[in-house]
Amino acid sequence: MTIKQQVLKVLLENKGKSVSGEELGKQLYCSRNAVWKAIKSLRDEGYKIVASTNKGYSLIEETAALTVETIKKYINCDCEITLIDKIDSTNNFIKQKADEGEKEGFVAVAKRQTGGKGRLGRSFFSPESGTYLSILLRPDFSAEKSLFITTAAAVAVCRTIEKVSNKQAGIKWVNDVFIGNKKVCGILTEASVDFETGGLFYAVVGIGVNLYHPKDNFPKDIQQIAGTVFDENIDNDLKSKFIAEIINSFFEIYNNFENSDFMKEYKQKSIIIGKKVTVIKGKDRQNAVALDIDDNARLLVEYENGEKEKLFSGEVSIKV
Ligand code: BTN
Repeated sequence: MTIKQQVLKVLLENKGKSVSGEELGKQLYCSRNAVWKAIKSLRDEGYKIVASTNKGYSLIEETAALTVETIKKYINCDCEITLIDKIDSTNNFIKQKADEGEKEGFVAVAKRQTGGKGRLGRSFFSPESGTYLSILLRPDFSAEKSLFITTAAAVAVCRTIEKVSNKQAGIKWVNDVFIGNKKVCGILTEASVDFETGGLFYAVVGIGVNLYHPKDNFPKDIQQIAGTVFDENIDNDLKSKFIAEIINSFFEIYNNFENSDFMKEYKQKSIIIGKKVTVIKGKDRQNAVALDIDDNARLLVEYENGEKEKLFSGEVSIKV
């Protein structure tokens, strides 16, 4: 056990009471300075430890808060994380950072969003019971391939759900993650394109996950479709692990883009292949069957008149 873990153990055993630095040092055979360092590190992790003169340290809250440190503990890739209590949209925040020259791998995580953005100009409900993050990318592939970023993020979220919550997740082309018949995650990729070269100045992939049930329920218009990854509220350690796993899994795929195995996984996880769907283009709605997803993440559909089309983006809804 490290000194930090031992200090935490003693403070937990004496919860609500004060233990002096001298006493901790004596019990743990270490200097008061080492105790002080351990206390500082525990506070950085979010433990609420108060110090009172002549009395010592007292732990007033057992559960660690969500902090950059609690997330970083689980990170195994090269990225820089910033944690924000409340923001309109992490995608907007990252776009601004990108315009200011921030590097690839900059990640913004928000505890909640006040103007969360969904696809096709919709809003994305973003209370504290979810997690919202955006990643800045500077890929050297063409804008055409940017759809891969969304698909990589969808696979990363599925892997995370399966690893951390043990539930099975599926993907509804192109950017929604489902558990059973409920949407638990949405992904919005935005990019700044260099029209001269067809390349990307940058891309921002934004991921929003409903972790547990919101205190005041989901808004009426999404109550039938929205679901959560966990059935109960989760603590900040598990939340940190979940966030870190999404980032780790995403970069594992992104850093090996030439290996398109993740597209196989994307297809395997698809919940719409073989299903009757409605293809929505503006005001136009057409019935079709979803036949396949190709290696460029385009959806092959067959309309009722036998015509086939490969969809690059847009919207399909599944018929039940
Ligand atoms: C959708 O379901 O239509 C896409 C939702 C994308 C939501 C995420 S949350 C983090 C990032 N910030 C935003 O404003 N949107 C994305």
